[in-house]
Amino acid sequence: HRSLIAAFVSAQLLLSGAAFAQAAPPLTRDNGAAVGDNQNSQTAGADGPVLLQDVHLIQKLQRFDRERIPERVVHARGTGAHGSFVVTGDISRYTRAKVFQPGTTTPVFVRFSTVIHGNHSPETLRDPRGFATKFYTSEGNWDLVGNNLPVFFIRDAIKFPDMVHSLKPSPDTNVQDPARVFDFFSHVPEATQMLTRVYSDYGTPRSYREMDGNGVHAYKLVDDQGGYVYVKFHWDSRQGEHNLSGAQIASVQGRDFNHLSNDLMKAIERGDYPKWDLYVQILKPDQLDQFAFNPLDATKVWTGVPEVKVGTMTLDRNPANIFQETEQAAFAPANLVPGIEPSEDRLLQGRMFSYADTQLYRVGTNVNQLPINAPKVAVNSNNQDGEHNSGARTGKVNYEPSRIQPKPQSDAARYSALPLSGATQQARIAKTLNFRQAGEFYRSLSADERKSLIANLAGDLGQVRDETTMYTMLSYFHKADADYGTRLAQALKRDVAKVKSLSDALSD
Ligand code: HEM
Repeated sequence: HRSLIAAFVSAQLLLSGAAFAQAAPPLTRDNGAAVGDNQNSQTAGADGPVLLQDVHLIQKLQRFDRERIPERVVHARGTGAHGSFVVTGDISRYTRAKVFQPGTTTPVFVRFSTVIHGNHSPETLRDPRGFATKFYTSEGNWDLVGNNLPVFFIRDAIKFPDMVHSLKPSPDTNVQDPARVFDFFSHVPEATQMLTRVYSDYGTPRSYREMDGNGVHAYKLVDDQGGYVYVKFHWDSRQGEHNLSGAQIASVQGRDFNHLSNDLMKAIERGDYPKWDLYVQILKPDQLDQFAFNPLDATKVWTGVPEVKVGTMTLDRNPANIFQETEQAAFAPANLVPGIEPSEDRLLQGRMFSYADTQLYRVGTNVNQLPINAPKVAVNSNNQDGEHNSGARTGKVNYEPSRIQPKPQSDAARYSALPLSGATQQARIAKTLNFRQAGEFYRSLSADERKSLIANLAGDLGQVRDETTMYTMLSYFHKADADYGTRLAQALKRDVAKVKSLSDALSD
């Protein structure tokens, strides 16, 4: 009897052409209830108004109205991938962090990004590129939030909002204006090396796979006795480093302004998994004074300090949902694990606050409960409630200390101790060495790369209208390297002798 009815029903479905639709899960509202009609709103009669009681229509519009969250204030345009990091070297004598114990494999999520323009802006634009890695370690999440270039524009976080305002589109035109950019940077001689690197072809990488990454700052590795060394992290691309020249950018941008995202996603799709080797440079605390520059100054590379290989990262899985995994990903230099600590670098110290703070606003109070950000270990803090809270908190003890439910602290997780003396102050660092490394970088470039740099930089500097700004910038590049400054001045048809005399008046 039953099979007769079933045969009758399936014959009806076949007749109505709905047999195929039956296999697919039905369209539902957010409460799980099936939708009757997704093409026509409910109206009062054939010609009457749309009804407020069409709950499916109302919910569909409400959810659409709320689809965007604020984009990142910088690094809005990005793309991410999952993978793993395997330790092959041995730096365990320097750090108690489990992520660096030999043989350890740690899942990672990496987000690459451009910096200045908004989400969906062309990936061809000149910029540093972000290279942020979240390590889901067995002791909690560690984020290494770096860039492709090894130095930064400024050395103190107090300058960051002004710098970004000058680089972003102008508030009166919504267009980026090199005259504003150099108006700012003519007051920031320490930016000379970073500007030189950004205006070289390293400011326009051919692909994210063919790009190195750098932690930029000094961090501390802390051993199990509380002793520490200073380190800089460097991701060395196994694909090599390849960039686009000014002429190539125009043709790539005309064809595909998403070339960086497309390249990474397609490579992973076809099983061509990109790899990076992680290296560290190591300095003991008493070595910090042995350089002409301050090794805790983020505008400097550690010239002459050997690199030690630590391990290899492979990216092998694209996100299934860009919004959930890449846009809601929240990387923060404050996400550290025992054995890895910040150095006293003034830029890094500001970053320790800024990222976690912006993410409480950009994503929300419980940003770290989202699957992409949640650690793979249990969280047992007394931080609670807030919007969109979905954490599994049970029991009555949401304070510490307690005998009912103790939450012991661990000596192995104590911060290292830094010896200090003297008074608080507001003063710039003693060893500024603003120009020397910019010159060393310029001289390390091939003839073609120098030609590209001069053309790229002259293009933007040529839009500066104020002559004091123009000559100040030219004097900085001349101070870095006389040939560099002279060629730029000639390209911009300015007085080379004046540039030289301004440059001679600068101290290094
Ligand atoms: C993103 C601030 C310097 C690399 C961000 C964001 C902020 C910020 C607020 C947005 C974060 C978010 O919405 O999730 C700062 C401040 C700096 C600074 C205040 C200096 C004091 C640097 C430096 C580097 C860097 C030196 C490289 C070493 C990045 C990267 C991202 C980012 C890679 C994007 C992370 C992602 O993909 O989500 N920065 N930044 N920033 N910053 Fe910085």
